[in-house]
Amino acid sequence: MQVVFSERDIAERVGGLAREINADLGGGPLLVLGVLKGSVIFMADLIRRLEMPLRFEVVALSSYRDGDEPGELHFYGMLPEARPGERILVVEDIVDTGRTLTELRRHLDAHYGRPVSVCVFLNKPGRRRRPVAVDYTGFTYPGDGFVVGYGLDYAGRYRNLPFIALLEPEDR
Ligand code: PRP
Repeated sequence: MQVVFSERDIAERVGGLAREINADLGGGPLLVLGVLKGSVIFMADLIRRLEMPLRFEVVALSSYRDGDEPGELHFYGMLPEARPGERILVVEDIVDTGRTLTELRRHLDAHYGRPVSVCVFLNKPGRRRRPVAVDYTGFTYPGDGFVVGYGLDYAGRYRNLPFIALLEPEDR
């Protein structure tokens, strides 16, 4: 397994993202929405560096596949309600094809009727199928390899690694 972004790289970058978000969204209450499951580790680190009054909720979704093509996105449960005056920040671990974020953004915009900002830890543009708007990006990984760690899994494993690493054949 080859480390792509070390624990130290990540800590520094998360601090930088928090500074950007504090500068843009500070001053008022914030509702942070973490997308299960991959975002929980990133969200836990990020929110501890945010300085405005905030609360967090989680959103669960899954995608049914139709052969090799991704199928419809399904949301579990009710979306949490936003309180008056709250800004909304969605936290995702990765944007890959862009499908999840595109659908999620459309769904959240319709539900909340107010602007929703998006923070993604890892942007992987190599497989992008749809252009997506991301307000805050941690890292961009230009390669096409499968990366794990810091919330990202392979068959449910490796989410607990404190770094991002490129999966090698022997790790599968
Ligand atoms: C991952 C990730 C994003 C999505 C990104 O979720 O958390 O939600 O894939 O991929 P896309 O840009 O191609 O749509 P996954 O379904 O693996 O769930 P997980 O977070 O529980 O691992």
